[in-house]
Amino acid sequence: MKPSDLKGRSLINWKDWSPEEIKYLLELSHSVKKSLRLKDVHQRFLGKTLAMLFEKRSTRTRCAFETAFGEEGGHPVFLSSSDIQLGAKESIEDTARVLGRMFSAIEFRGYKQETVEILARESGVPVYNGLTDKFHPTQALADVMTLEEVFGKVAGRTLCFVGDGRNNVARSLIVISSKLGINCTVICPPELATERDLLDEVAPWAAASGAKITVTGDLSAVAGADAVYTDVWVSMGEEAQRDARVALLTPYRVTEELMAKTGNPDAIFLHCLPAVKGEEVTVPVIEGQRSRVWDQAENRKHTIKAIMLATI
Ligand code: CP
Ligand code: NVA
Repeated sequence: MKPSDLKGRSLINWKDWSPEEIKYLLELSHSVKKSLRLKDVHQRFLGKTLAMLFEKRSTRTRCAFETAFGEEGGHPVFLSSSDIQLGAKESIEDTARVLGRMFSAIEFRGYKQETVEILARESGVPVYNGLTDKFHPTQALADVMTLEEVFGKVAGRTLCFVGDGRNNVARSLIVISSKLGINCTVICPPELATERDLLDEVAPWAAASGAKITVTGDLSAVAGADAVYTDVWVSMGEEAQRDARVALLTPYRVTEELMAKTGNPDAIFLHCLPAVKGEEVTVPVIEGQRSRVWDQAENRKHTIKAIMLATI
């Protein structure tokens, strides 16, 4: 595919990206990582500006966008919700129109998926979802890049997400897996099972790619996994539900015993981070031989740089 085909595109979630387009972004991600290792300096964002809107906190996503854009000569501007009128004293539509006149692209992290959709619709520039309550698409691309580094070809591999099956990370993994032929098994308590409508929506993509998407409460479904992935039990904005979450998810902690139940000595452990060590994952697992979480965190930057290079 021609890179120019993607100019002007937004990344709201992976639903409207074809497998070929996602694979192109992955190739570009590996190539920008290699080039940074070789200390190649490029100025591909010289004269460009990026608005970075954050309603929620962030370490990795903010630093990935900011350093990736700045390294290429661009000027990123960080704006938290206490700095600007995003839906406070001005409609999101109006803010989007104004930002679209001043910036080459916009990143948004916050609560409602609708906000990032409005920004994309009204601004006229590429908009990137840096996490909402519903999706975390840039994370999922870094996760697949990490799988490719370990396993090479990812189609036919099995990724097992253990935890809150309705959260932004689980839902994004389901979408990207369905497009790329990765078998995605979500193991979660029935109360936190992934919504039926998302599973119905991805079914045709999974049928086309050969991906098997499964949601189950049964921990023995971890057998045969190539990667076991978990995330925090309490996502940002859900703090009031902490006690109920701990009660529901304690049986789903990723332990060395659970990793052994994969029956796969080469199975790796993944986590989007930040982690609550001792809660969703034990210290020996996240600090152990199988853990790839630091590569995964670094790959946020390379994948985000690739997304911006392809679309700006
Ligand atoms: N994984 C991730 O999105 O990390 P941050 O919340 O630190 O951005
Ligand atoms: N599910 C987590 C992901 C953090 C990167 C949250 O939304 O808080």
